[in-house]
Amino acid sequence: MNAAVVESFDRPPRYATFRAPVAGEGAVLVRMRAAALSNLVKGQAAGSHYSSASEMPFVPGFDGVGTLPDGRRVYFFGPPAPFGAMAEWSIAVASRTVPLPDYVDDATAAALGNPGLASWAALLGRARLQAGESVLVNGATGVAGQQAIQAAKQLGAHRVIATGREQDVLEKLRALGADETIWLRQSDEALVDAFRRALTSVDVVLDYLWGHSAECILAAAKGRGSPQGERRVRYVQIGSISGDAISLKADLLRSSGVEMMGSGLGSLSAAAIVQALTEMYDAAASTGLKIETEAVPLSEVESAWGRTVSGRRMVFTM
Ligand SMILES: NC(=O)c1ccc[n+]([C@@H]2O[C@H](COP(=O)([O-])OP(=O)(O)OC[C@H]3O[C@@H](n4cnc5c(N)ncnc54)[C@H](OP(=O)(O)O)[C@@H]3O)[C@@H](O)[C@H]2O)c1
Repeated sequence: MNAAVVESFDRPPRYATFRAPVAGEGAVLVRMRAAALSNLVKGQAAGSHYSSASEMPFVPGFDGVGTLPDGRRVYFFGPPAPFGAMAEWSIAVASRTVPLPDYVDDATAAALGNPGLASWAALLGRARLQAGESVLVNGATGVAGQQAIQAAKQLGAHRVIATGREQDVLEKLRALGADETIWLRQSDEALVDAFRRALTSVDVVLDYLWGHSAECILAAAKGRGSPQGERRVRYVQIGSISGDAISLKADLLRSSGVEMMGSGLGSLSAAAIVQALTEMYDAAASTGLKIETEAVPLSEVESAWGRTVSGRRMVFTM
């Protein structure tokens, strides 16, 4: 079959032939239609993600949209290596498939999967957002952050506060549902002050950045306890675009009562992911979710691989 093939962590995948997959027990063959190029897929193909394959060559693609032998169109994730989603055929484990509503096209459905994991699954499966609560999205200008704003609003959030480093992009986030924005390129003092004001009403932080801005949010939480039994701030760590490590003082946790947790493949069950994404695709079909996509034929994978436009998701089509 034709596929994108990773032969080295140092080079983009090539469009080449690869042996066709054979589905084992509990799995089915998928005729592929679309697969998105997320940061996870880039990291796996570059050998820098903790889930990168250990053997070469392999087909990249953590998730995608395709048709099952019974004709159903599904989104699926986690095909067993070496068979990724960026090929004419892939393999879906039955328990990791989500049936797709007709009204969501292939490219949109494929593009939504990974940011949906970062937003819908984080809000439902980890933060357990309640209607009426407020959410701070740290790093809201990316594809996942934009979905987080929309997801929080659709799940009944009272207020959504979005952060980013580009003023003009932050302004556009209001159209997606952001009630307030915080610019990250201000002095530390001003930034911590802005976070301190925000945290008086925020219940959940979704963090796609980590690094210095996370330190500023946590510094702002110092002393925000719950003397009257107020709900704690649930801080959900999802991405680390601006740094892998932070410095965290012990007294900050003790005085704030902030509850820290991660959200990702290791901290959500497959069932929780499927449940959250089912809800997301229902919302996409009924009320609509905005996501900017660029569809590219899989045959152009090698030249297109390194191309990125902030806030837009590239999707390879087969
Ligand atoms: N744990 C999970 O389940 C899960 C799932 C999906 C994604 N993720 C992770 O979540 C993160 C975001 O994913 P994504 O798909 O939204 O990525 P993306 O579309 O590539 O967006 C990243 C955004 O971060 C902004 N950015 C880059 N460096 C920054 C900095 N130093 N300070 C502030 N903003 C900065 C970029 O904006 P500008 O360059 O325009 O400023 C861009 O808008 C990634 O780390 C990804 O791996 C985690």
